[in-house]
Amino acid sequence: MTSESTLFCQVNTLATGPADTAKKHVPVISVPDVVKAGQPFTVIIKVGEVPHGMENGHFIQFVDLYCGHIYISRVDFTAELSKPEVSMSIVLHHAGKRPLRVFSRCNLHGIWEGTKEVNVTK
Ligand SMILES: [Fe+2]
Repeated sequence: MTSESTLFCQVNTLATGPADTAKKHVPVISVPDVVKAGQPFTVIIKVGEVPHGMENGHFIQFVDLYCGHIYISRVDFTAELSKPEVSMSIVLHHAGKRPLRVFSRCNLHGIWEGTKEVNVTK
């Protein structure tokens, strides 16, 4: 059993986190299955397949988007006034299967990673 303090000492995923907690924290990434190199496309990120609440004292602080280990963007959220959902336009320049990775941080439950592969064509 993972204690809540342990959640802050690792990157949690669907595979490693407690299932009920994971469903509310793992970012869900939506992208086209295939995109063109050098052409912008839309990435939609929602934190949790079960939506996470945004009360003062317990909320999603931010999401970070990476392609592999390359940082792309961060979006900060505010308790009570925002939802942990975002749509952004990004560009990938190299063809191949690219792993998009999103890290979300909950102030009570730590960091959670979601991934989605996108096929970038020339
Ligand atoms: Fe949480």
